[in-house]
Amino acid sequence: MSDQDYIIAPSILASDFANLGDEVRNVLDAGADWVHFDVMDNHYVPNLTIGPMVCKALRDFGIKEFIDVHLMIDPVDELAQSFIQAGADLISFHPEASKHIHRSIHAIKDKGCKAGLVFNPATSLSALENVLDDIDLVLIMSVNPGFGGQSFIYSSLDKIAQVREMIDSSEKDIRLEVDGGINKETIGLASKAGADTFVAGSAIFNTENYEQTISELRSKIV
Ligand code: DX5
Ligand code: ZN
Repeated sequence: MSDQDYIIAPSILASDFANLGDEVRNVLDAGADWVHFDVMDNHYVPNLTIGPMVCKALRDFGIKEFIDVHLMIDPVDELAQSFIQAGADLISFHPEASKHIHRSIHAIKDKGCKAGLVFNPATSLSALENVLDDIDLVLIMSVNPGFGGQSFIYSSLDKIAQVREMIDSSEKDIRLEVDGGINKETIGLASKAGADTFVAGSAIFNTENYEQTISELRSKIV
């Protein structure tokens, strides 16, 4: 789905929301590949963030790069369609937030958008077995969803390795993304376990020089 071996996707959750357009432009100009867009509904997770209007506002502002929407919402389907209208390139959702996972995936894909499934630290990968061939990305959470700035949960490394095996044996073009607590220490471990797409929020936006931080993160990928 992307020719690049490794993707860095800054989570705008940690950016300055009062200055969002410039923050996104700056982080992309500093070498980031994707924009990771965290959507929280104060129901599936205990926090509330941004919706499709903000995604459209970024498009209207002139952001043309890949927008990776991570839905932490229940239900999924209606807002997923709104995000497609708003210009999302990929929409991921948590399988436990959809009653009909296969239908939710194809409702996204039928509109020409890419689809991903997200697994929390304690969520089993069983939902993946029947739909791996239908999706473009698997996202493994290395924190419990809801907040930025949490510590990496090391048991997610085994899960990443498990999904890496599943993807490799499927021989499909599926990206393996990791999200939560990614920093200069943990990015190498996650890449060694098999991740190829790395979300980082506070590790990037809480630094002064985005370009330097992104290139340091990239240099730790093995
Ligand atoms: C957590 C979000 C993450 C979060 C990552 O629910 O899905 O994308 O912003 O933030 P850091 O990188 O600070 O852990
Ligand atoms: Zn996220």
